[in-house]
Amino acid sequence: MSEPKKLFIKTYGCQMNVYDSERMAEALGGKGYVETKVQEEADMILLNTCHIREKAAEKVYSELGRLRPLKEAKPDLKIGVAGCVAQAEGEEIMRRAPLVDLVVGPQSYHRLPAMEDAVQSGAKALDTDFPEEDKFEELKSRPKAHRGPTAFLTVQEGCDKFCAFCVVPYTRGAEVSRPADRILREARELVDAGVREITLLGQNVNAYHGHEGGLAGLIWALAEIDGLERIRFTTSHPNDMDDALVAAIGDCSKLMPYLHLPVQSGSDRILKAMNRKHTAAEYLDLIARIRAARPDLLLSSDFIVGFPGETDQDFEQTMDLIRTVNFGQAYSFKYSSRPGTPAAEKAQLPEAVKNERLARLQALLTEQQRAAQNSMVGREVGVLFEKAGRLKGQMIGKSDYLHAVYVQAPIEVLGQTRRVRITESAPNSLGGVLIN
Ligand code: SAH
Ligand code: SF4
Ligand code: F3S
Repeated sequence: MSEPKKLFIKTYGCQMNVYDSERMAEALGGKGYVETKVQEEADMILLNTCHIREKAAEKVYSELGRLRPLKEAKPDLKIGVAGCVAQAEGEEIMRRAPLVDLVVGPQSYHRLPAMEDAVQSGAKALDTDFPEEDKFEELKSRPKAHRGPTAFLTVQEGCDKFCAFCVVPYTRGAEVSRPADRILREARELVDAGVREITLLGQNVNAYHGHEGGLAGLIWALAEIDGLERIRFTTSHPNDMDDALVAAIGDCSKLMPYLHLPVQSGSDRILKAMNRKHTAAEYLDLIARIRAARPDLLLSSDFIVGFPGETDQDFEQTMDLIRTVNFGQAYSFKYSSRPGTPAAEKAQLPEAVKNERLARLQALLTEQQRAAQNSMVGREVGVLFEKAGRLKGQMIGKSDYLHAVYVQAPIEVLGQTRRVRITESAPNSLGGVLIN
């Protein structure tokens, strides 16, 4: 038998890209590729890219520049670009970076095996279609190999919301839900392979409509699977948070008490300009209802500062909203103008204003994140152990609230959920002791 060919994938962007990278590796596995962590020994390098902000897209071109010497030293090396930059700028990539052999968008990567044949025969391959067929149906079922205890599972893709700043509706296409029976089958396969926690993914995961009762219905069906201990989902839009899902957050014991619910801004004027289609008060009301269902929930959000037209007063309203909600975790960004989106046409704020606002916002969010983390000290939480730490006997896992937790424990805890008493809080992690 010939030596297997080696595939190196570098993943940028969101968790859905992490999931897609796994599926692309599996698809190329059928063509005799095995994954390598060593770029230099690869026969094919795939960059799975993100287009969400300007910096993210620029990274792709600088990475391609860094790959040039490798390709010159090894002319048989194939270089591919996948993901959202591929979708947005496919032809442009081929023009700007002649070393690229293959460009594949996020909705057409089930065609990778055929594209691989083409590039092996010396051709270039570009596919950024939004095909009729469902890529997940075209791909084979997941391999049976043993896996780590956590996994992502895409249940919904695309977005019809068209927030004025965002490229995702253009790069991922229209909102589509996968059929529930396929998702349940994939979840069972994952559990059989050792997975204990599944994070359901979607650009608007709570718009999922492939099961009776929507995402809540799917979660209840997944909760029936023996051996699946934890369920999470991300990312949700406030307007798709229906009563059944709020109830499930309170009632489903396998659903973890962590919710990422981006609000972006606390100013009604800016929310309107962003096309978010809800007010700050409606968001606060929703948070109150969710917290009534699950009082210990840890809330997370995304924020954009410096959106076109954002005044000091608008920004202060965002700060007020943050003080009112008290977030346990958050991601915040300076507005980045994206070609083709409505907000890109508007006058941009000075960089210095964006920088100053981002620094103030992040200081407040960091304070809240630290306070939430410190409040865990003394509490008992579930921890799913994922890997060994660097210190002898140290095991690392994630708490129910998604904090990283370091514990002295026997190796057998790996892959198990154990009760842990939290004893200390460091800047980005917790320490604790096993209590069972
Ligand atoms: N579908 C998800 C994720 C979108 S991208 C959602 O609706 O939340 C993740 C985050 O990136 C967004 O929530 C937003 O805060 C940020 N983002 C998107 N476009 C951006 C832009 N043009 N500039 C700055 N941040 C942006
Ligand atoms: Fe982008 Fe808005 Fe859709 Fe999220 S809801 S993916 S921010 S357009
Ligand atoms: Fe980036 Fe595409 Fe995800 S733009 S955030 S990789 S959906």
